Amino acid sequence: MKIRFALLLSFSLATAAQADESAAEIWTAKCKSCHGPDGKAQTQMGKKESIVDMSQAAWQQAESDAEIREVIAEGSTRNKKMKAYKDKLTPQQIDSLVAYIRTLKKG
Ligand code: HEC
Repeated sequence: MKIRFALLLSFSLATAAQADESAAEIWTAKCKSCHGPDGKAQTQMGKKESIVDMSQAAWQQAESDAEIREVIAEGSTRNKKMKAYKDKLTPQQIDSLVAYIRTLKKG
């Protein structure tokens, strides 16, 4: 009985933590391997697939929030390596990633 309660408690704590996960943490866990910590895509995958440097002011200006959101949710039509995240992330998490990507702009 006690064990069951403990299991249940740790399970609900884990889910609560996941919902709270900040955009930076999601980025590190799910995006950084290809896009790099700073969005510059200086990674093996980034170089191989010529992934755009998201810190560039020109890229930031050319892409609307809606366009960025669309690629994250639906994946890229140009490159299958960029997968759809709509089943893995909530709409709120995707929105928070769009905001996070905006912070990657070179100062
Ligand atoms: C397995 C490697 C990989 C991972 C992981 C990955 N991406 Fe991508 N991403 C790509 C590739 C490759 C492209 C280039 C697609 C293209 O050219 O259309 C891309 C493109 C993008 C673009 C559009 C850039 C443009 O040129 O318009 C956005 C926004 C983006 N990714 C966000 C994310 C976010 C947010 C995550 C994490 C939730 C993520 N990506 C995870 C590989 C990845």
